[in-house]
Amino acid sequence: MNKVEIKDGVYWVGAIDWNLRDFHGYATPGGTTYNAYIVKDSKTALVDTVKAGFFDELQSRVEPITDMGAIDYVIVNHVEPDHTGSLPRVMEVAPDATVIATEKGAEELPMYYDCGGWEIQTVKTGDTISLGEKTLSFVETPMLHWPDNMVTYIPEDHLLLSNDAFGQHIASSKRYADEVSGILNDAATYYANILMLFSPLITKTLQKIIGMGIEIDMIAPSHGMIWRDSGVGDILDAYRGWSSGESNDTAIVVYATMWGSTEKMAAAIEQGIIDAGFEVKVYNLGKSEWSKIIREILEAKIILVGSPTINNGMFPSVGGFLTYLRGLRPKGKVGSAFGSYGWAGGAVKAITGELEKTGVTVVEPLSVKFVPGADDLAACAELAGKVVDAAETRER
Ligand code: FEO
Repeated sequence: MNKVEIKDGVYWVGAIDWNLRDFHGYATPGGTTYNAYIVKDSKTALVDTVKAGFFDELQSRVEPITDMGAIDYVIVNHVEPDHTGSLPRVMEVAPDATVIATEKGAEELPMYYDCGGWEIQTVKTGDTISLGEKTLSFVETPMLHWPDNMVTYIPEDHLLLSNDAFGQHIASSKRYADEVSGILNDAATYYANILMLFSPLITKTLQKIIGMGIEIDMIAPSHGMIWRDSGVGDILDAYRGWSSGESNDTAIVVYATMWGSTEKMAAAIEQGIIDAGFEVKVYNLGKSEWSKIIREILEAKIILVGSPTINNGMFPSVGGFLTYLRGLRPKGKVGSAFGSYGWAGGAVKAITGELEKTGVTVVEPLSVKFVPGADDLAACAELAGKVVDAAETRER
C-alpha cells in the first residue's frame, strides 16, 4: 500500500466508509471518511483514530510508515466514537503510548472505554508537545462539535489538524478538496447539519485561531477532503460567512400535502417569490431529504413552511422537520406558515409557534379552508411578496 504523505513526515492513515448513509440523523448518501494522521519525527504521534470496525484499515495504512507499537502519542482531538472507536485496539498494540486529550476529553473517555492502564495526559489551549523537529500545538475548540473538542496545529508545517471542523461527509479515493467537484457544497451540508447550532461559538473560535496569528496553508479535517492552497482561504471564508449568518436572496418553501391543497398554495407562493425577485427552492417533505433542505436553509434569507391540518395539528413529517430545524437554530431568517384545513384548523398555528421558537421572524401566516380558490392563491402570492419585503427591510 502506498503511503499518503500530505506534508513532509505527516501521513493520512484514515479509513474510507463508502456505505455510511446516516450520521446521527443526517443523511450521508456519499458516505464519509474517518481521517487519522501519523506525524513522524524523533517521536511519533497518531492524531485521531477511526470508527470501530475500521481499525484494520487504519493499521494497514500505518504499518508501511511505522510499527504501530512505536507510536508515542495518540492525540484525541474529539471523543465521539467515529474518531475513537478504534482507540482501544490502538492501545492494545501501542500500550506505551500516551493519550492526549482536553480535560473534558479525559473525563469522557472512561465513559466509553475501559481506559485502565492507559496513560492519559490533558492539554489546554497553548500547550505543546515536541516530537523533535515538529511541534504539536493544541487549541481547545469546545462545541465544535462537543465540549471535549480541540484542534492540533503543527507550526513547522503550517498544518491544522482540525477534526470535525471544516469536514465533509464524502467518501472518496481522492484526498484533497481541489480534486473533488462540489466540495464546498458538501462542506456546507456538513456545517448546516452538524455545526449550524454552534455558529456563535464558531465565530469566536475562528477569531481565536486567526487572532493567534498562526499561518495555515493546509487544513486536514477528520472527515472528507483536505484543504490546501487556495482551498484554505475558501473554507475559512465559507465558515466566516456561515457562522455569521450571511445569506442569499433565496427563499425555501417546505411543505407536506394531503389532497393537493397545500401544494397548490406552495406553488402560488413559489410564483409570488419569483415575481418579487428572489430565487426560490421548493421541497415536498414526502419526497425530500431533510439534510438537503437544511443545507439550503443555511444560506437562504426566507423559509416558508406549509402543512394541511390533521388531527388538529400539522403533519408528523412537518413536525419532525421543524423539531430538527429548531435544534439547529438557523440565524436571522424571515418566514411564514401556510396550509389548508377542513374544519377546525391548527396546523398553521402550530407551525407558526415552532418557527418562532426557532427564531424565525414570522410574517402573516395564511390558512385556507379546504381547497384554495383564485382569491386564496392571490393571497398566497401576496404573502410571498410580504415575506420578501420583510427580508429586504431586515437587510437594510
Ligand atoms: Fe466526527 Fe463529532 O464526530
